[in-house]
Amino acid sequence: PVIRREDYRAPDWLVPDISLDFTLDTDRTIVTARLSVTRNGAHDRPLLLDGEALELLSVSVDGVPLPRDQWPQGDAPLSIPLPGATHNIETIVAISPARNSQLMGLYASGGLLCTQCEAEGFRRITYFPDRPDVLSRYSVRMEADKALYPVLLSNGDPVESGAGDNGRHWARWNDPFPKPCYLFALVAGDLACNADSFTTMSGRQVKLGIWVRESDLPRTQHAMKALKDSMGWDERVYGREYDLDVFNIVAVADFNFGAMENKGLNIFNSRYILVDPETATDLDFDAVEGVVAHEYFHNWSGNRVTCRDWFQLSLKEGFTVYRDQCFSADMGSEAVKRIEDVRTLRAAQFPEDAGPLAHPIRPESYMEISNFYTATIYNKGAEIIRMMATLLGHERFRRGTDLYFSTHDGEAATCEDFVKAMEDGGGIYLAQFRLWYSQAGTPRVAAVLSHDAESQSATLTLSQSVPDTPGQVNKAPMVLPLRTALFDRQSGKRIEERLLVLDGAEQSFMFEGVRAAPMLSINRGFSAPVIVDMHRSPDELAFLAASDDDPFARYEAMQLLMLGALTEAIAGGEADNGAVIDAVRTALSNPALDDAFIAEAVRLPGEAYVGDQMALVDPDAIHVAREALMGEIGRALLPLWREVHARTARDAFSLAGADKGARKLRTVALGYIVASGAEDGPALAYAQYEGAHNMTERQGALAVLASIDCAERSQALADFYARYAGDALVLDKWFQTQALAFHPDTVEIVAQLGKHPDFTLSNPNRVRAVYGAFGANQWAFHSADGAGYALMADLILALDPVNPQTAARMVPPLGRHRRFAEPRAGRMRAALEQILAQSGLSKDVTEQVSKSLAG
Ligand code: ARG
Ligand code: ZN
Repeated sequence: PVIRREDYRAPDWLVPDISLDFTLDTDRTIVTARLSVTRNGAHDRPLLLDGEALELLSVSVDGVPLPRDQWPQGDAPLSIPLPGATHNIETIVAISPARNSQLMGLYASGGLLCTQCEAEGFRRITYFPDRPDVLSRYSVRMEADKALYPVLLSNGDPVESGAGDNGRHWARWNDPFPKPCYLFALVAGDLACNADSFTTMSGRQVKLGIWVRESDLPRTQHAMKALKDSMGWDERVYGREYDLDVFNIVAVADFNFGAMENKGLNIFNSRYILVDPETATDLDFDAVEGVVAHEYFHNWSGNRVTCRDWFQLSLKEGFTVYRDQCFSADMGSEAVKRIEDVRTLRAAQFPEDAGPLAHPIRPESYMEISNFYTATIYNKGAEIIRMMATLLGHERFRRGTDLYFSTHDGEAATCEDFVKAMEDGGGIYLAQFRLWYSQAGTPRVAAVLSHDAESQSATLTLSQSVPDTPGQVNKAPMVLPLRTALFDRQSGKRIEERLLVLDGAEQSFMFEGVRAAPMLSINRGFSAPVIVDMHRSPDELAFLAASDDDPFARYEAMQLLMLGALTEAIAGGEADNGAVIDAVRTALSNPALDDAFIAEAVRLPGEAYVGDQMALVDPDAIHVAREALMGEIGRALLPLWREVHARTARDAFSLAGADKGARKLRTVALGYIVASGAEDGPALAYAQYEGAHNMTERQGALAVLASIDCAERSQALADFYARYAGDALVLDKWFQTQALAFHPDTVEIVAQLGKHPDFTLSNPNRVRAVYGAFGANQWAFHSADGAGYALMADLILALDPVNPQTAARMVPPLGRHRRFAEPRAGRMRAALEQILAQSGLSKDVTEQVSKSLAG
């Protein structure tokens, strides 16, 4: 059953109001739903209500029971023929939160009852038209045991509560804003609250609450600060004010994704709320800030203006990721944030675009929408919004977003509506630009720069090609905004910077007044999500790495320099790594650079990224070459690395940018010292591990140790496990660090971790910590004997009946068989075939595996 975008039809029936009554119990919850329905347009089609895993107890139409022979079988929709224009429907169903291991709908997590409805989880709570273009006002009453569930939360504002019989109590919540059912939420549990408040720009007081287990309260401060910062930022930058009197966040341990933007009641994976310096890394702190902002920003980009159908998912996700990226850039280092975001895009989205699961940011079809919460929809989607902002400039972009919000407030909109608002509000014509919504694949740009001494001009010739992807061939040229600069070779000065817009297959751009052959800096700031192919000498790259005034371009030149050296070594060439070593020395010694940037710049490209540059990935050759280069840089600059490692030590912890940068650079330096083979390497790493007063340095040292064979390795792993026993989020790091390690026995280690008493299929964080990490460990996962593939296939088959969504997320690493030679390619296909042969496979896994085999 494939759903197609072109088949969209407006809903036959609307539901302006719904009242929900929950009698909560972990084993058997009774849900009574009263829907007022109105016919939408002239038609004689029945009312169709989606339902899944519901035990129907009763259904009535305008107070008259519907005969049992008209009740649906299994998960079929409830179909009710209705004569009039408006009717009242009442259904009563029973559901079991305790047995809901999929974590969609109402489920139990660590003694709590909570919900996840996006995309299609609401149908697992009650019968309803489960589609985002049906907007309703919700009135929710819930009743539960007061001792087990003293706190009862839902969307909107609390209106009434009281005591009941037998130790039970109840509460009623009303949400005045009509919303699609995927934004419904309910939480019941024994929760403590970090309470605060925010005064909006119009002077309204909003009560803020972050609800967690009592013992976790001290770890909620950073999230609260992030929330208040986000609320202020959205007012200043987008003119968007919060609209309810309360805003609640709840942290839960078992969650399929990062978090969910339910109106007025965001529900989070606890890893994106709970941080303190002892148990969380700086990356975790940044992730909390980013995800809290992301979910908060959805209140406008997602909730006030929602999506018409799930093909429009990037309308809210791409835009909201762009917004949270800009927020984080403003809160910290813009340059480092951009580097991190591009690294994520290249690591997660470029391979997707180049593989069997490639899809445009607005897909044309799907079997299971959960499979489309992808790096393409989210991260490439954000790049598309960023390009529009670049083309328009700040002010006109803001006029576009203002128009978008004012035109579509309270509506379910489309990607087309957004682009139209950019055109009308920003005053720009985006006809060809729309191809970014329909064409998949990462465009490639070839650049050739020539110079004419006589006319003192330089000519840059750019050509583009968009690769074929499954179901899409012969694509049209796209609009590529490329921030470009020329540098004078002699003086090193920048001659000119321009925004070049490449929109043809091939175009030339002239630069006047260029006396000598210049150097080219292109796609500065990564202004377009493309791959640039261009021949540049190590000298030129070294110059740009040291002197380009765009920090991203400097980072990029450094990466290209390193990639060049690695590619050379992999091809068996004579290694002269002098230019790389000089460039690393220059970066380490430049007092104008901050430590966070240096840490990014001197780190070697990851093995997977190196593989992405090759015609066919050779995991062993890449691993050997990268380790060798790392060792060589380590040895050549050993005194400098020791100096950096020493100077980045701090007595006290702070979240100031300079201190975060120092911590990041410190572990990079440690890695190089250990890679150099210095005899005291393992001891130094253990000393950093043991002496650390924060998780960033402790886990950094643990990760360095995990990849070498030494006594300190097992000592640190044993100590870490004992030290954090009982803290699930920290234990995830113990699992993940081992699954990511470059240890010759990683496959066997991961197999053992999967049998560890602390491993469980019921917690997605734990599954991701082991198998998500393992799938990203190119050298180990792609072990030539296929043992890694078999391990992953077994995991997917075991997880599918428990949690199909999370099982399906483990498939893509197996789908990259076309990128590998035999025997790996055949063994990957065999693993996929083995999965597909299983009977009763979920839609989720079936779609990912069958596409992976076909594409
Ligand atoms: N909308 C959520 C976000 O902030 C993600 C929800 C994904 N859930 C799902 N079951 N696909 O990005
Ligand atoms: Zn989102």
